[in-house]
Amino acid sequence: MKTELCERFGIDVPIFGFSHAVEVVSAVTNAGGYGVYGATRRLAGEITDEVNAIRAAVGDRPFGLDLVIPNKVPEKNDRDELERMVPDAHRSFVEGIEAKYSVPKPSEPGMRTRFIRSEEIQDEQIAAVAASDVNMVALGIGCPPEVIEIMKAQGKTTVALVGQERHAARALEAGVDLLVAQGYDAGGHTGQVGTFSLVPRIVDMAGNVPVLAAGGVATGRHIAAALALGAQGVWIGTAFLMTEEYKSHLSPGELAALINAQTTDTVISRAESGKPFRQTRSAWSEEWATPDAPQPLSHPLHDVLVGDILGAIIEHDIRPLQHYGAGQGIGWFDTLRPVKEVMDGLVRDGDAALARFGQLKGVAA
Ligand SMILES: Cc1cc2nc3c(=O)[nH]c(=O)nc-3n(C[C@H](O)[C@H](O)[C@H](O)COP(=O)(O)O)c2cc1C
Repeated sequence: MKTELCERFGIDVPIFGFSHAVEVVSAVTNAGGYGVYGATRRLAGEITDEVNAIRAAVGDRPFGLDLVIPNKVPEKNDRDELERMVPDAHRSFVEGIEAKYSVPKPSEPGMRTRFIRSEEIQDEQIAAVAASDVNMVALGIGCPPEVIEIMKAQGKTTVALVGQERHAARALEAGVDLLVAQGYDAGGHTGQVGTFSLVPRIVDMAGNVPVLAAGGVATGRHIAAALALGAQGVWIGTAFLMTEEYKSHLSPGELAALINAQTTDTVISRAESGKPFRQTRSAWSEEWATPDAPQPLSHPLHDVLVGDILGAIIEHDIRPLQHYGAGQGIGWFDTLRPVKEVMDGLVRDGDAALARFGQLKGVAA
């Protein structure tokens, strides 16, 4: 399954693996793919250390880093100021969930409240990434042309994740080197257009800019299909959650939610961050979907409202409320395997599917 991308980027197979774990990113790259570290919730100093750790693990092989840069965030990392903007009805609703499920207070802020997404923090993150020796920078939400310019000036490959044609037009205008067409099936923040409908549209408008298909890619057959749609490779998140290398990043309840989830057990909810986010269905998404629930707040105000309770749910193992970001592809996975085994399986299955294409052509001829 070699495509032009492999030669251009010095990888063996056109599989890009997104993960919030340094160990997974290193293992994807060392297995011949392109690991990408999700660093949007990491402070600048942490980014520097973690990029160094990945570099030490992969040597000269390439890897990337992903940031999320939404356009309307507060200027400063000032939680108190945002706390004053949270409506009382929302606060009471969250207190109601706390009482109903007996959720104790967390011993420290949650992942969404350890810092507040702000211009201040984003600027520090961007400076740390630009100064690092990461080979590629991907932008998951937002694609500010000035950030693309800064990263290109440092010789880094630039990538944008897009969920609709409008986003792709903006990213192409900003001069990105690669587009990830991420469809509805995907885990984490996602849009409304299905992967099958999205990928060929983005390929057609991207011209010479290569496109990766994302959202629901869980087997080698999906990779073969992505190549048939005109993509030059794939970008995968969910499959790498179910790995030995990721295990230490999951609480027992989160792991159980992922292992038990079938294709129909994920849901898109704004209750996580204020933006549509696909996750395993749980009492958390269900409570927010009841007729009496308030609409989630905008991002990042919603983070301030729910960050601590989400941390407490994990810390105190409140099972009914535990959930995790995951795509519809989660239905393919019910055991943890080493990343290398996942990669080898994708390649083996993909090559077999591509070989079947060859046979089909033979029959038609
Ligand atoms: C738990 C989780 C968290 C994610 N967080 C981010 C993120 O911070 N930034 C980003 O660009 N994409 C994020 N994604 C989306 C992935 O980059 C990728 O596009 C997606 O997982 C592909 O679809 P799949 O989940 O079906 O493989 C996340 C995905 C998951 C499953």
